[in-house]
Amino acid sequence: MLIAPPLINSSGKFPLPTFKTQSNDSLAVRITQAKEKLGSRLLILGHHYQQDEVIAHADLTGDSYQLSQQAASSADCRTIVFCGVHFMAETADILANRPEKLAERGGERVTVILPDMAAGCSMADMAAIRQVDDAWEQLEEVIDVQRLIPVTYINSAASLKAFCGRHGGIVCTSSNAAAVIRWAFARGERVFFFPDQHLGRNTSLKMGITQEQMPVWDPHTEQLGGNTAQTIRDAKVILWKGHCSVHQMFRAAHVLQFRERFPGINILVHPECPQEVNDIADISGSTSKIIQTVEAAPPGTKWAIGTELHLVNRLKKQHPDQEIHFLSPVVCMCATMYRIDLAHLAWTLENLVEGSIVNPIHVDAEVSSQSLVALKRMLEVN
Ligand code: 13P
Ligand code: SF4
Repeated sequence: MLIAPPLINSSGKFPLPTFKTQSNDSLAVRITQAKEKLGSRLLILGHHYQQDEVIAHADLTGDSYQLSQQAASSADCRTIVFCGVHFMAETADILANRPEKLAERGGERVTVILPDMAAGCSMADMAAIRQVDDAWEQLEEVIDVQRLIPVTYINSAASLKAFCGRHGGIVCTSSNAAAVIRWAFARGERVFFFPDQHLGRNTSLKMGITQEQMPVWDPHTEQLGGNTAQTIRDAKVILWKGHCSVHQMFRAAHVLQFRERFPGINILVHPECPQEVNDIADISGSTSKIIQTVEAAPPGTKWAIGTELHLVNRLKKQHPDQEIHFLSPVVCMCATMYRIDLAHLAWTLENLVEGSIVNPIHVDAEVSSQSLVALKRMLEVN
């Protein structure tokens, strides 16, 4: 039987504005109905920072690492709707459509959809491939780049993952950064870590690498990222000058204020927070580690948590027997992740039911195969 090819259409058969005027209750009903029609061919993945209304419809939730594993192992599904941000959907496309998976499905691709194309990541945008290529060329002039291992945080464009694939490098997430850096040092003398300076610095400090051995590469300077040739030669880890606009808002002063007001409180933070916060926190870890730590704690435990607001609020609701505070007095939420709302999800799914694909994420074949090299290395490290 011939199946008509799906219609790829940026506005969809049903236009988005008609969904935006609907109440969340009615959108939730429409999403549930569309999911029933799509059955096991559809997989909705939700990152822990999504709003609760969206998480309620996710088939699987997780941190960046878990979601990439889930995309890599998906069997029945033919469409992944990624309730996360752009780099996560790109990673899902690369992993779900790698050659061995395509062969298992007789060449049939998994379509990956990002419900709102404006759901990007400001950190990922801080490192562009032309800047990384330029940095590499400059580094070639002062050190042996054969012994320099590029490590990109998964929060980066696919083109950067492909760069790592081409240059003997690897991808990391916040849950495996230390293991990945060890992998890199087993293969080279220095690491070039992008785009998050905080994750790179916090992880490397715990491994005994000193501040002096970690110069920061500022891509907006003319020469050597603002460093001397000698600083680069002395470096063990060269950190890209990038950060997460959400996590960089947490401060050491917040930690001190909580400790003064709530004696015995535990400070639990994400490694994307600045060093001044990580240094004095009780525990630092990926979003999954944060969740597992709270889940394992006895009733009455006091926490001040430094990560995205939606996750902290969800933990508060799920653990009323514990005392959970948000570590900052200001709202630190991932505004781009928040763009994925019920209106976008309902719009995406109802169009899908009609065979109309809105917002597909399809990474170019060459970038995809080079990124896969670096992503597979990451999946094998754990
Ligand atoms: P993890 O999901 O790896 O904890 O990272 C947090 C994050 O910033 C996702 O964009
Ligand atoms: Fe990017 Fe930060 Fe949002 Fe994560 S929380 S997606 S790093 S902006």
